[in-house]
Amino acid sequence: MTKLWGGRFAAEPDARLKALNDSIGFDAQLYVVDIAGSSAYAAALESAGILTPAEAQEIQHGLRKVLSEFEQDVFVLQEGDEDIHTAVERRLGELIGAAAGKLHTGRSRNDQVATDGRLWLLDACRQVQSQIRGVQEMLISAAEPHLETVMPGYTHFQPAQPITAAHWLMSFFWMLQRDAERFADCARRANQSPLGSSALAGTPYPIDRQSLAERMGFADITANSLDAISDRDGVAEFMFAGSLLMTHLSRFAEDIIIYSNPSLGFIKLPDVYSTGSSLMPQKRNPDPLELTRGKTGRVIGNLSGFLTTLKGLPSGYNKDLQEDKESLFDTANTLALILPVLAGFIGAMELVPSKMRAALDEGLLATELADYLVAKGVPFREAHHLVGQAVRAAEQQNTPLSGLSLNDYQQISLAFERDVYGWLDFDAAVKKRTAAGGTSPQAVKEQIQKAKEILWASD
Ligand code: ARG
Repeated sequence: MTKLWGGRFAAEPDARLKALNDSIGFDAQLYVVDIAGSSAYAAALESAGILTPAEAQEIQHGLRKVLSEFEQDVFVLQEGDEDIHTAVERRLGELIGAAAGKLHTGRSRNDQVATDGRLWLLDACRQVQSQIRGVQEMLISAAEPHLETVMPGYTHFQPAQPITAAHWLMSFFWMLQRDAERFADCARRANQSPLGSSALAGTPYPIDRQSLAERMGFADITANSLDAISDRDGVAEFMFAGSLLMTHLSRFAEDIIIYSNPSLGFIKLPDVYSTGSSLMPQKRNPDPLELTRGKTGRVIGNLSGFLTTLKGLPSGYNKDLQEDKESLFDTANTLALILPVLAGFIGAMELVPSKMRAALDEGLLATELADYLVAKGVPFREAHHLVGQAVRAAEQQNTPLSGLSLNDYQQISLAFERDVYGWLDFDAAVKKRTAAGGTSPQAVKEQIQKAKEILWASD
């Protein structure tokens, strides 16, 4: 089998080199974008007068045939098929003969693979955005019934202040919203066609790159051929957006793992999204959440591995760049596995308001007491100190803050009066946080409204 680049070589490459060098094992999935790019390129060659209309038609016909062979899973790989580009061109030659040999005029696999990569990325960004949206919608539906469900809010994972369960759930909506925007942004920058950059220096043929780009659905063309064929920014950006998204999902998973532990019991793991133990009959394990957390490591690994690949490369195409694909595909596949499961999980999980309430410790209201003293005219710093003394007294008496007598309070400060007990109320504490973005039921309702408007606007 003669290779597409075999002219200057007297011997076939060693089999061990082939195993290392070939990318067809993982880039065959680019066939849709590769053929779309070739079809647009054939049309551009025709417009430039390089192909006759008859030759262009033959090529288009042949490419459609190759596409359908891939789609029907009957495309047969041959020994010399190094990557998707050579495989498609080889098969086209078998199908239509001589005209196939003109398709690569003025084109290099360097601008071809860069084009394929960007077309693939545009589609992948759209897919991830819609998978993210699936999770966001479930977060909203899970939050809505729990505007008044009070739970402990934590800092340093120590009880801090009461919040509503809806507020907790919605906090992840906004992280995911920024993630979705990052993918949209990645697509916006990737949306330039490199085709016509050729190997590195640009093409000497009169190719109208702009209309070639439009034919493929790109918004624009790249401005520098050397940059265009060495650039893999989009790949790195996608993997970064994926890493940050997974990091958010991993933190969400961690919250649920903790909250579903029977010692807290805030959340019941749904049967259909949890697993049992082969030995311990009582077990119900949050496997999908653990895998979300676990696979975050691999997605971050894909990013840092690829950045390491890029960082020392000299200008121009280097074969190192072939390393972009496996990690990129792996990141996209991992996201496509995780996001739908999490959406389903959120839809099926059950919050247990009684357990959340049972976990409310009056220590969570210490800030309320400080605010109470502030309302009585005590400067905040001093109020903080006085309440600290009340907390200590309560600890010594082994009683909640409401168990201290008025006398106890007044020994600390005469600013405490009988109405202090009215401030030791979890629901009241939550309801007071009415400023925009706060945890009060009214503010969270407005937050959810805003979230819905954002989703509608992207419809
Ligand atoms: N399979 C190659 C890749 O994925 C295609 C580009 C090959 N270009 C070259 N000059 N050898 O990067």
